[in-house]
Amino acid sequence: MSRTTLAAYLDANATADLTAVVTRIADCCAAIQEQLRLGDLAGVLGSAGADNVQGETQKKLDVIANDMLKDALQACPQVRGIASEEEDSVVAANTAGHFLVTYDPLDGSSNIDINSMVGTIFSILPAQSDGELSEAEFLQPGRKQSAAGYVLYGPSVMLVLTTGKGVSMFTFEPGSRQFLQTVSNVSIDRDTREFAVNMSNQRFWASPMQEYVRDLLSGSDGPRGKNFNMRWVAAMVADVHRILCRGGLFTYPWDSRKPDQAGKLRLMYEANPMGMLVEQAGGEVWTDGERILDIQPDQIHQRVPVILGSADEVLCCVDYHKKASA
Ligand code: F6P
Ligand code: MN
Repeated sequence: MSRTTLAAYLDANATADLTAVVTRIADCCAAIQEQLRLGDLAGVLGSAGADNVQGETQKKLDVIANDMLKDALQACPQVRGIASEEEDSVVAANTAGHFLVTYDPLDGSSNIDINSMVGTIFSILPAQSDGELSEAEFLQPGRKQSAAGYVLYGPSVMLVLTTGKGVSMFTFEPGSRQFLQTVSNVSIDRDTREFAVNMSNQRFWASPMQEYVRDLLSGSDGPRGKNFNMRWVAAMVADVHRILCRGGLFTYPWDSRKPDQAGKLRLMYEANPMGMLVEQAGGEVWTDGERILDIQPDQIHQRVPVILGSADEVLCCVDYHKKASA
């Protein structure tokens, strides 16, 4: 069966400049997956012995994937600047480039040492000027993204992409080293009986989230009148992939142990790109009181509570929050 290549898909769904950026990212992720597949044989597992700007211990592969993407994007004439979860501040690329790229080089990196799923998440924003690059230029709401996606390094390697014209999935074919389209027009069911959250944090959430999850857990005996299943991969990229494939609700709520930290997930590297994908597939993407893609960021490393997935279930969860603040 002949399949649409990523190149042919981009030809029909992106400008030449955007195509160049997405292609650069996809090629780089193909190289990252080679390192991941070799694992211990390449000596790439374990800690890098340092913390990143977020205060999290960096894995060797966080650093390797970050450097590979940084080098690839700096060499791409269409890229004006990059911001990465693993970099302290924004990094200039080519002054005249038309795009800014933000990325989480290896999401779910605590899974690396147990040979479990991880991924690369990316967001592509329009450049705002051709002067000196500044952080302010990156601070655009997620609604402005030109494209967003991720590469999931699982039993097969998959690129999931939107350029604002729906969501497509591509599977990496190692023989030809190409991403081939395997799913088009991804669509998330509005309704679900599955949720994803780190339940061990339950007692530290704000009361609306505690009530919402308590009602899910009470199943057919409770106010929701149906039983729910739970899944948690501990890699957002894999949990969101499951939701794009078969629906569900994913949340990472605010936590009272770190009251001044809005949440765990990062707006510009995780929530916005996943938000664009999920909305493009017909899902809903909220923080407690507003749609994530409408948030005006005030700094590149900003965090945000996230509720995303099947539309009716997300809106139901948001309702618990709205009622509490009314
Ligand atoms: O990037 C942060 C992240 O690793 C996400 O990929 C994932 O959803 C979450 O943190 C896992 O958090 P926890 O360690 O609480 O399970
Ligand atoms: Mn991450």
